[in-house]
Amino acid sequence: QAAGTIQVTENSFITKLKSSGRSLVVFYGSQTGTAEEFAGRLAKEGIRYKMKGMVADPEECDMEELTKLHEIDNSLAVFCMATYGEGDPTDNSMEFYEWLKNGEPSLVGLNYAVFGLGNKTYEHYNEVAIYLDKRLEELGATRVFELGLGDDDANIEDDFITWKDKFWPAVCEKFNIESTGEEELTRQFRLVTHTPGEIQPNNVFTGEIARLHSLQVQRPPYDAKNPFLAQITVNKDLHKGGDRSCLHVELDISDSKMRYEAGDHVAIYPINDSNLVERLGELTGSDLDEIFSLINTDQESSKKHPFPCPTSYRTALSHYVEITALPRTHILRELVEYCSDEEDKKKLLLMATNSQEGKALYQSFVVDACRNIVHILEDLKSCKPPLDHICELLPRLQPRYYSISSSPKLHPETVHVTAVVVQYKTPTGRVNKGVTTTWLAENKPEPGKPLPRVPVYIRKSQFRLPLQTQTPIVMVGPGTGLAPFRGFLQERAHARLNGKEVGDNILYFGCRHRDQDYIYQEELDKYEKNGDVTLHIAFSRDQPQKVYVTHLLEKNMDQLWDIIGNRNGHFYICGDAKNMAVDVRNIVLRAIQEKGGRTEAEAVQFIKKLESMKKYSSDVWS
Ligand code: FAD
Ligand code: 2AM
Repeated sequence: QAAGTIQVTENSFITKLKSSGRSLVVFYGSQTGTAEEFAGRLAKEGIRYKMKGMVADPEECDMEELTKLHEIDNSLAVFCMATYGEGDPTDNSMEFYEWLKNGEPSLVGLNYAVFGLGNKTYEHYNEVAIYLDKRLEELGATRVFELGLGDDDANIEDDFITWKDKFWPAVCEKFNIESTGEEELTRQFRLVTHTPGEIQPNNVFTGEIARLHSLQVQRPPYDAKNPFLAQITVNKDLHKGGDRSCLHVELDISDSKMRYEAGDHVAIYPINDSNLVERLGELTGSDLDEIFSLINTDQESSKKHPFPCPTSYRTALSHYVEITALPRTHILRELVEYCSDEEDKKKLLLMATNSQEGKALYQSFVVDACRNIVHILEDLKSCKPPLDHICELLPRLQPRYYSISSSPKLHPETVHVTAVVVQYKTPTGRVNKGVTTTWLAENKPEPGKPLPRVPVYIRKSQFRLPLQTQTPIVMVGPGTGLAPFRGFLQERAHARLNGKEVGDNILYFGCRHRDQDYIYQEELDKYEKNGDVTLHIAFSRDQPQKVYVTHLLEKNMDQLWDIIGNRNGHFYICGDAKNMAVDVRNIVLRAIQEKGGRTEAEAVQFIKKLESMKKYSSDVWS
């Protein structure tokens, strides 16, 4: 291949850029859609600087072409990259990440900038973006603007707009261009409404994730784009009292050919609350049964529709868009155009600007008050956006992950889920409900009725039992953090019954009250009686002072050190990422220092080494 020419393939982003006269390409590594959304916003804003942009999924592109992007004048590659789990790249950026890590491509002449999406409660905060930013430079590329880091635990929207407001001037300086000053409020998608009779009912999407009729005509293999419609065979509350609810759900996967291992996750596709869907129809004065399509105005884009189309508004709002997420500022900006009242306009506009006052108002009006799009339209009464624009702006409804709480050794045909129902009162007096857990709570099997069904798929995880059953293990999982350990215990008890030698199983569990939220108590008692587990249970609210799993661990540091320091054991944490996992890690660090005679720095290295050998694993969420 001669220098300077590009092989034309379907995956050639350079061909696409060239043929459409663009110079900016924004790649995203996205797991839940936020990075993709940010990438879209950046690409769109390029117009303001006469830098026509396009969004690209690294998984669909020949990323080796980055070595040749410099052939396009004033070209720029931006990467919006999320870090997932234990410092991992997202599924769609995995291959690209490996290529950069293991290869030595020359990226001389490539102009780039990176914005990372992460969550500070996780230990490996934004590791992927930090690495990418450094690695691109090592390979010879030119950083046009400093790395931006977004923290989803605080306000990632704020981090993003703060970063991009400085990013654009840096781009202008680099390429010697100027802002046109115009704000780009053009729609990305064009509305087509279908009159009754114009379209065959058979061709209308009714909640499928990708392929038409994929939920009616099921075809393995099942994955994120082609989930399995599982029957809910068991769905009961595990709490014996109190005002919260924790569900034990069993999903039948017997006809799916899906396999799982203890420690894997199951992803569940929820349906939005029908009351909220109706309300959104009312507030926008729409007919929810109308059939419509949204079609990308950018013909070069590989994403023709924001979600499966044609469909009805009711289906789109129920299955395809996140209507309870807190709207980001770019949505508020778009809403301004639909207000008749000046005060409403001003308020929305202010929240969408990157000023201290605007940020503070966004924080109090949207974030602190937990106002979703329905609440915003209820409270800013003059705002009457067309429903199709709302559908375009809202992020795509995401499946939620659950740590599987069963072992396939005992339950090859079912996947068990242990989920706390999310429900909370907001400062405006409303009750907000978690989409998935509320849907699950409302879909219990009833006698004489068909079993409820829900689209699911299994996501492999790194959270694994030791290969040798003799290896001792310590598990720390308060609350629903118990979930994967129920699977682990089932597996190890099963091994023992089958004559295998099984090492110590030490479980730290915590809940509020012994007689209310001590989930799976009978099962745990039985395991304990049979010698299958040693239990350490912390009831945090059964006495005046709090007792947490960390307090119990602290008392048992000798044993903890013995297992991880002398007996080659494995240590596991599951549950709340924000406080619990951090506190537990600190106790382990202390045990390594105090009982293992290491310095603080050595203790940190010790844990890192355990992690790399998969002897210290966490499965945590916030
Ligand atoms: P959503 O509609 O997603 O609402 C949840 C959101 O509401 C929160 O993110 C937060 O922004 C907001 N919110 C919640 N409470 C409040 C409050 N008091 N004040 C203000 N805002 C609030 N969950 C389990 O129960 N069991 C598990 O085994 C489990 N395993 C998981 C494993 C992984 C790898 C991950 C990533 C998550 C896991 N989760 C688990 C969490 C689960 O995926 C969902 O996030 C959770 O069930 C809520 O989903 P939902 O759709 O019901 O709520
Ligand atoms: P609390 O709600 O009384 O504070 C499961 O959520 C259990 O974990 C509850 O008993 C909860 O106690 C407890 N918990 C809260 N924060 C914790 C932490 N940092 N470490 C360990 N357990 C914690």
